Amino acid sequence: MPKFEKHIFICTNQRPPDNPRGSCNASGKAELHAAFKASLTHHGIKGTVVRANKSGCLEQCEHGPTVVIYPEAVWYGGVTPADVDEIVESHIIGNRPIERLIIPDSCLNAATCPHKPRKQL
Ligand code: FES
Ligand SMILES: [Zn+2]
Repeated sequence: MPKFEKHIFICTNQRPPDNPRGSCNASGKAELHAAFKASLTHHGIKGTVVRANKSGCLEQCEHGPTVVIYPEAVWYGGVTPADVDEIVESHIIGNRPIERLIIPDSCLNAATCPHKPRKQL
């Protein structure tokens, strides 16, 4: 078996609509994961080379819907099904990440992120 060349993790965590953190899969239908699967199939990319996996919460809820692609460890936020073909064509096939969707380092696991709720002291 060849090693996977890329692994796409798509957050499909669902929280109740009144949860202040929101969630990446508010509808519970995991449309984003389905869109990645469909796009990979459409582009003839076999699941033995690139995997699109459902993931639990990736702890980037405030930037979601969240997708992370390894081995590059490129984090995307605010991803919609309309972005998926572009990600597959540019990033997965062309190795050119989509700058406008990347969660900036200043937000990723950083105390400086202005989007995350502050801890109550
Ligand atoms: S719910 Fe998707 S990152 Fe937390
Ligand atoms: Zn942020």
